[in-house]
Amino acid sequence: MTNTGNEGDFKSKITAYVVFCWIFAAFGGLMFGYDIGISGGVTSMDDFLIKFFPHVHEKKLHAHEDNYCKYDDPNLQLFTSSLYLAALVASFAASKLCTMFGRRSTIFFGSLFFMAAAVLSALGEKMWMLIVGRILFGIGVGFGNEAVPLFLSEVAPVQHRGAVNILFQLFVTIGILIANLVNYGTSKVHPGGWRISLGLAGVPALFLFLGSIIIVETPASLIERGHHEKGRQTLEKIRGVKDVDAEFESIVHACEVAEKVKHPLKKLMQKSSMPPLIIGILMQVFQQFTGINAIMFYAPVLFQTIGFGSEASLLSSVVTGLVNVLSTFVSIFAVDKLGRRVLLLQACVQMFISQTVIGVILHALLKPTGSLDKGPAIVVVVLVCMFVMSFAWSWGPMGWLIPSETFPLETRTAGFAFAVSSNMLCTFLIAQVFLSMMCHMKAFIFFFFAAWIFVMGLFVVFLLPETKGVPIDLIADRVWKKHTVWKKFMDDQDA
Ligand code: BGC
Repeated sequence: MTNTGNEGDFKSKITAYVVFCWIFAAFGGLMFGYDIGISGGVTSMDDFLIKFFPHVHEKKLHAHEDNYCKYDDPNLQLFTSSLYLAALVASFAASKLCTMFGRRSTIFFGSLFFMAAAVLSALGEKMWMLIVGRILFGIGVGFGNEAVPLFLSEVAPVQHRGAVNILFQLFVTIGILIANLVNYGTSKVHPGGWRISLGLAGVPALFLFLGSIIIVETPASLIERGHHEKGRQTLEKIRGVKDVDAEFESIVHACEVAEKVKHPLKKLMQKSSMPPLIIGILMQVFQQFTGINAIMFYAPVLFQTIGFGSEASLLSSVVTGLVNVLSTFVSIFAVDKLGRRVLLLQACVQMFISQTVIGVILHALLKPTGSLDKGPAIVVVVLVCMFVMSFAWSWGPMGWLIPSETFPLETRTAGFAFAVSSNMLCTFLIAQVFLSMMCHMKAFIFFFFAAWIFVMGLFVVFLLPETKGVPIDLIADRVWKKHTVWKKFMDDQDA
């Protein structure tokens, strides 16, 4: 029997073992999140600034220094952003590794880079050690972010694929929250609190390392590499049933189709591959241009800018981190019921309002020197939470989910690498230029992000098709060929 993705025939139980595999793999997301969350707090710690960026510390102490500019320093931003440049390059290497050696090995290598990075950064004495540490973290992120979402999608029972994929994002948010809590604690430890913050990344890295030894390789990856018998046994193991014929046949069929494509990259550049490629890249570019990482990286800095003390600022970022985690559960429960588009559109409205009102308040009330009164400062924190909340149930998880479910198997790893690297490039840009932009644009930076969010709303309305409930193998027929705009790309039969 040839089954090309009729989900009704796929039998499975959710076994403890498969849940265990999801959770251990999702630690890759936790590492990514920890890295995102840790740098903002570390770069606002006085001990860290005095040791590596004394001139920034000097600026910070100046009572009359411009509020919006006190942290603007290209090297300080390079500390945060270098990680993403390394991750960008590494995600392409990881896509090759995923195809040649499998998802599990790629996760394993990623965890080694994370552990080396944690040790080097914690021992950091010189600037170069910090930067090399960030680059090693970046390679780990590139490997993890390419392999983990693919791993989760491939080992998930097909009817729960959306929710299982979002576990990656859930662990990203948990990682950010843990980092915020760690920073809150270590900011009270002098002079080496920042070392603890950076070094503690080694703990989840160790979990990921152990996990990568214990978890299975995905059946698709085993079969794709010619290990049919092992692939079948693994499928039986993770599905918890003996009768896996339909799903096994479907994977074998997808592998046969994929095998005919000798040059996935060439195939990816053909006209008929453009719809998922354009959508995958734009989902990630837009995800970043919501301005989320201006908040995630620099929340403590931002809160200090509006006049909070160092401790209150770190505490406020713990609050935004908690909102981020809890709101992600909304998408886990809603994504396969309400669909992707509704969540994305609702979030565009909520995010647009939050960014605009923050901009108006800061423009009207925050002068270059002095600080906001308590009332408006609290309103800004509430608006930041509203923004983070809507991002967490929409563009956050969907940025990873949609690119992972719209490519056919033959272009999936390569196509997904383009999506991952677009994310990294834009994350790099925001991390690198946000503080300078804030210094030059002042409160208008928030209107800049609001304008992007407006464009994103139009994108969802006119260009983003709904993929809820459509089996991956049938996306081309049921989605792209039916869409007013994208069907024009599907007319030709590229070889
Ligand atoms: C994004 C990160 C962001 C995080 C916030 C992820 O999906 O890729 O850049 O910091 O969500 O939760």
